Amino acid sequence: MKTSKVVPLRPGLQERRRQPRAVEASPVLAAAVRAGLSASPKTLPAALLYDDLGSALFEAITLLPEYEVTRADLRLLESKAGDVGALLPTADVVELGPGAGRKAKLFLERFAAGRAVRFSAIDVSEAALRDCARTVEQVPHVSVSTVKGRYLDGLNDVVAARRPGVPLLVLFLGSNLSNFDRAEAQGVLFAIRRMLREGDALLLATDLDKPAAQLIPAYDDACGVTAAFNKNLLVRLNRELSANFDVSAFHHEARWSTVHRRIEMHLVATRPLEVTLGATGDVFHFAHGESLWTESSHRFRTDELDGWGHDAGFVTQAQWVDPHWAFAHTLFRVGTSGVTS
Ligand code: AVJ
Repeated sequence: MKTSKVVPLRPGLQERRRQPRAVEASPVLAAAVRAGLSASPKTLPAALLYDDLGSALFEAITLLPEYEVTRADLRLLESKAGDVGALLPTADVVELGPGAGRKAKLFLERFAAGRAVRFSAIDVSEAALRDCARTVEQVPHVSVSTVKGRYLDGLNDVVAARRPGVPLLVLFLGSNLSNFDRAEAQGVLFAIRRMLREGDALLLATDLDKPAAQLIPAYDDACGVTAAFNKNLLVRLNRELSANFDVSAFHHEARWSTVHRRIEMHLVATRPLEVTLGATGDVFHFAHGESLWTESSHRFRTDELDGWGHDAGFVTQAQWVDPHWAFAHTLFRVGTSGVTS
């Protein structure tokens, strides 16, 4: 008779399997969430959507048939990166919010075209930065470094370590600017401009105005991926701040605001709810039908973008619009003389 030996799992391993990873509550996150849930209407910063799982779900969104934004961006990158390269014969490149690095790879393959380029990636998700580095390192002659943080903090670090005499090209793609309201967006362009110097450039990729009937399905897809992306925020708060959101009691909603020309993503409570934020000890109440506003995604006009760029001190060097899905690439340059478009 064969005797079987039961080998106990190492205690450490057993723990890890049984329990969700304990995460130390970040005081910055706790303060932001506390402020947002105390506000009326309740709202949270869109950047919080991008923890590691949120970043992966966003990558899935970019593959949805309803979400044409990323494909329009990729089409323009594919056809115009060579032109950008011709306008900037030498430059190092930094991208704000590259995600998994698909756009950066496509761009750099055409932009670098054999010359040595330093590429820096700035993102709030460490997993996204890992994927991005792995992807972009495949491009010959490109060396990659990563900075974990918010756009402007990260750019500040990259600028501090720049190679003297080599112009810097900032990539702000994917309509990442759309999370900011118009006043904030102008402020961000201004802040970027202030960190740059003559000869530097900003390639800004933004989604343009289009009918709500085209936009709503892009933010409320048939597969429910965007709903999962949105609800993951509650899962994150349950895990990282010891909150007790009943995720199943919230319904994903995408609304179009004609006044603000933006999609608003909401999580709507389907019954009255009480939520405790363990990390701070606060208790919040949701009425039936009350929403938590989690993201705004603004649409832009090309003349509006030009105006903001010029106000910030840029010159528009080129602008390209995708003919299939209204989406623009605007190449801004910092005050070099003799520049034409
Ligand atoms: C990454 C901010 C450009 O607004 O389209 C996609 C995020 N949210 N679907 C966008 C998003 C839901 C995306 N941005």
